[in-house]
Amino acid sequence: MRRRIVAGNWKMNGTVADLATVAEISTAAKTAACEVVLCLPATLIRSARNLVGMEIGGQDCHARAEGAHTGDISAPMLRNAGAGWVILGHSERRRDHAEIDAQVAAKVLAAWEAGLTVILCIGETEAQYRAGETLGVLAAQIAGSLPEGATPANTMIAYEPVWAIGTGLTPSSDEITRAHAFIRARLPDPALSILYGGSVGPANAAAILALRGVDGALVGGASLASETFIPLIHAMEAAHA
Ligand code: 13P
Repeated sequence: MRRRIVAGNWKMNGTVADLATVAEISTAAKTAACEVVLCLPATLIRSARNLVGMEIGGQDCHARAEGAHTGDISAPMLRNAGAGWVILGHSERRRDHAEIDAQVAAKVLAAWEAGLTVILCIGETEAQYRAGETLGVLAAQIAGSLPEGATPANTMIAYEPVWAIGTGLTPSSDEITRAHAFIRARLPDPALSILYGGSVGPANAAAILALRGVDGALVGGASLASETFIPLIHAMEAAHA
């Protein structure tokens, strides 16, 4: 049995006022038949942990534990603030900060060292999708950004087609199933969970989460409000009930 999870990625959103939303989601998470984690802006991690019992994650970490890296946050710092998880290799990091696979791999090692569970994001751009390069891109990203040592306890993979993020577009069911099977065949352990991410919301969650090989969702926009996120938890529970 692979781990089933609904993970929220708040990206660069959320202030102290939004801790009320975290509290609402936490109440639903307590009785959920799947794992639930919210990856918050670093500024909210400590207060969210103090407020609720649920799992909280960060959205990036530096490969070093400490030092002269202005503006960066290390994995031990996330852990110290109360995070148990971290998203790494998100396409917005790869795009906005020119992160390459080798850097992502170094961050994964740092996160493991600090005891964080990693959600490692991979996925093709729209141009790569149109050129039919999806599977090749996924193979290269797994080879380059997932170091040796991944286990179901310390790592999950998130397949996030870049063109599906925040656009309302999603791949077809066949495309998602094929990508997840392709990724699984390249993982060191087939028991690692693979999440789908990209425009998941209350309207499509049931269909996506029911697909073979989809073990959960990594959710952006719909994770910002309890009204749109809690239904995804219920969809996950129903998908594999
Ligand atoms: P959206 O759910 O807003 O498309 O974002 C997906 C994502 O990037 C999650 O990491």
